[in-house]
Amino acid sequence: MVRMKKILVTGGAGYIGSHTIVDLIASGYEPVILDNFSNSDRRVLDGLFRITGKQVPVYDFDCADKEKLSKLFLVENPDGVIHFAADKAVGESVSFPLKYYRNNIVSLVSLLEVLKDFSVPNLVFSSSCTVYGQPDNLPVTEESPVKESPSPYGYTMQVSERIIRDTVYAHPAFSAVLLRYFNPIGAHRSGIIGELPFGVPNNLVPFLVQTVAGIRDHLTVYGNDYSTPDGSCIRDYIHVVDLARAHVQSLEWLKENNGQCEVFNLGQGRGHSVLEVIKSFEDATGKTVSYRVGARRPGDVEQIWADVTKAEEVLKWKTQLGLGDALRDAWNWQQQLVAAGIKS
Ligand code: UD1
Repeated sequence: MVRMKKILVTGGAGYIGSHTIVDLIASGYEPVILDNFSNSDRRVLDGLFRITGKQVPVYDFDCADKEKLSKLFLVENPDGVIHFAADKAVGESVSFPLKYYRNNIVSLVSLLEVLKDFSVPNLVFSSSCTVYGQPDNLPVTEESPVKESPSPYGYTMQVSERIIRDTVYAHPAFSAVLLRYFNPIGAHRSGIIGELPFGVPNNLVPFLVQTVAGIRDHLTVYGNDYSTPDGSCIRDYIHVVDLARAHVQSLEWLKENNGQCEVFNLGQGRGHSVLEVIKSFEDATGKTVSYRVGARRPGDVEQIWADVTKAEEVLKWKTQLGLGDALRDAWNWQQQLVAAGIKS
């Protein structure tokens, strides 16, 4: 069996990265964080210490900087890498495509070159359900076609997957797991870490909890004239804590499976509409959400949810938390932010 103890986590101070650090430590791994803090906050490091009691080594530089990355590998000698570091705002990527090609593609290529130079054969990569576009059939399996992406962000995910596949093909000692996330929401149960969007949030749940906290006036539901039961868009929302656990399961799988590249959908396996999310939030917290129905958001797919059978069977992973748990935990986290005087 492959030795795997020390894991480099790029983007480890970010939303999904930080929750994964907690799980890695709980599972006996020794994570090392690389993050340039362009879209994350140093305060998360204190939060990680409070939850785990462990001081995780932190490197602050851009993952695209191959020279610094090589030095990090010399010092830390990791056994594997979980690569979260990437930009992920669909709309922003349309306005700033080169930023996305640099931050998402150049950094991945640098990382793969360094993995090759140092003969580190294990990679877990954060991809997204955005690679499917609007699928013809639901739920989507890993075999569903990857459609041409309308956004540079989505395209970087498709290209990144291809780059990793090609690398595994050319270097059979190398193994990779590509994880296609659906919609991660929620926060750690303690309320000590969670999602910290900079500025006005783009995503539904951060905007919703900020609205209930009084930071935003009202939530806009982007369209109620879709061909869905209540007219609003449907997504597959997954608790970030369940999602984090899948990364640890992926490392376990990599230990046993050399020379392979596998892709897995990670969602709850069911879809909820925007209006259902609002209702679930109200049921889970007893709070009322002030919302209005507005126009459709350009680029939104109408509906998508995952078939997660493959992750359940191959990774031995299963979600343990539901939509209500995730919304309760997101609200708990938002209340901690308010108590700390943080209004992003
Ligand atoms: C999309 C991608 C996801 C990617 C994420 C990055 C798809 C299917 N999903 O998520 O893979 O990781 O971007 O940001 O391409 N909504 C409102 N009001 C709001 C905000 C959102 O009604 O203020 C609605 C949206 O129309 C959508 C749902 O809520 O139906 C979820 O939106 P959001 O949280 O932004 O995530 P996606 O766009 O689904």
